[in-house]
Amino acid sequence: MVHSVMTRAAVFAAAALLFPMAAPAAELRVPSGFKTISAALEKAAPGDTVMVAPGEYRERLTVPAGAGLTCEIPEKCALDGGGTGAVVTLRDGASLDGFTVRNSGKAGFSGTKMEGGARIENGAATVTNNRITGNNAGVILIQSGRSLIARNRIEGNSRYGIYLLYSKPEIRNNTITGNKDKGIYSGYSEPLAANNVISGSDTLVFSEVSVVTLTGNILTRGANAIQIAEFPKDQQGVAPVISHNLLWNNAMNYINATAGEGDIAADPMFVNEAKGDYTLKPGSPARDAGNPGKTFHDPDGSRADMGAHGGPLAGAPALAPQGGGAAPSAKAGWLTPAAPKGEEPGAGGWDTVSMKDELKMARANYLLHCSSCHGEKGDGEGQAAEALSAPPRDHTDTSYMSTRTDDELFTVISEGGTALDFDESMPPHKTVMTEAEARGLVKYLRKLCACQFTGK
Ligand code: HEC
Repeated sequence: MVHSVMTRAAVFAAAALLFPMAAPAAELRVPSGFKTISAALEKAAPGDTVMVAPGEYRERLTVPAGAGLTCEIPEKCALDGGGTGAVVTLRDGASLDGFTVRNSGKAGFSGTKMEGGARIENGAATVTNNRITGNNAGVILIQSGRSLIARNRIEGNSRYGIYLLYSKPEIRNNTITGNKDKGIYSGYSEPLAANNVISGSDTLVFSEVSVVTLTGNILTRGANAIQIAEFPKDQQGVAPVISHNLLWNNAMNYINATAGEGDIAADPMFVNEAKGDYTLKPGSPARDAGNPGKTFHDPDGSRADMGAHGGPLAGAPALAPQGGGAAPSAKAGWLTPAAPKGEEPGAGGWDTVSMKDELKMARANYLLHCSSCHGEKGDGEGQAAEALSAPPRDHTDTSYMSTRTDDELFTVISEGGTALDFDESMPPHKTVMTEAEARGLVKYLRKLCACQFTGK
């Protein structure tokens, strides 16, 4: 316990260093004090809370660093993105609590240009007690450190429930259901997913060059439950950490993974799954069968139940099924203080993502977007190469590559082969990555060829 006191003190000290002149935290009210949420957020300083009265708000929002956005009565405030972009973007240390978040833009299926309900990028934030539905991806984390995604209902999003790139969040006590493609997609990330119900997606948890820790979750009704992508080289040393999950009613339980200690296959006996009530009936095999570790215990100190109503954040009666009553704020129960500044970077494994170095990110992008055709080594020998109408370029060919300028390479990467009269089988990438990422790939190609432009 001394340890946790020290941690809190350290967080306090770090906060004081960051905001030495900070005025006492203010509460900015919408609509009584400010007509729109955006107007209030513009005035919000670190430590302030924007408190929103029930209602429907058609706004796309950015919560500034260190500020909180809270609905007075959980889920009674709806944020509607109007079908474009991200509905809510959270800066470092920001929080979003108690909203219905819906109707983001629908663009993006991989990479950083993903649109969705709540988006955290280049920082750690908390997203709690929300209902996130009808978006492209429910929650998106990109280069995010130790964010906390807890006690949300993330349901019915058209592509992903939670989408992670280069991120290390804690994902706890959410119900992640009916998201079409994947419940959780993890690319180049190290998430801890504990005590979630993940159900009704094509793949419930999909991991690509990631170390995913899955414990105490209930995974049901997936075509695939847990799938680790095959990336023969990069997948080495990134085995998932799996224990004490319940898997039931999936077509395939494990792909490139094996059952962990304490994993069970049995009917979880939800009280009323059809109505979204994932509490467990008496006699459920998921009771007292979660992770036995002390830090995972139920609030009453007993061994954790599996699923969204077990573990330390399982205060009743959060996660009300649809149409149900108000859920109390879970703030008192945080395991992880919001955005623990004092711990970043470097102290103890949860530092902001190791992939942030541009070349590492470029290599990750190359494996993700280019290696199927150009090969992992860049020699043009990718698995898909033979089926194409032109052979993919050999990026290790020093003499050819030194005849190409950086701008030409960049143009082909972002606009596709046809932009410079090359074959159309070289696809454009501007919809799946930013300009900076495409420029990073040019640098990576220069590494592969060990060359620069030397003239035509
Ligand atoms: C679907 C297969 C495919 C994928 C995916 C792909 N490429 Fe290509 N790429 C090709 C083919 C085929 C060519 C050769 C086109 C030709 O010769 O007309 C090519 C050519 C190129 C060239 C040559 C341009 C020049 O100046 O000669 C570059 C650079 C390149 N690709 C980079 C990339 C990068 C970087 C990625 C990933 C972001 C990528 N490619 C993804 C198939 C692919």
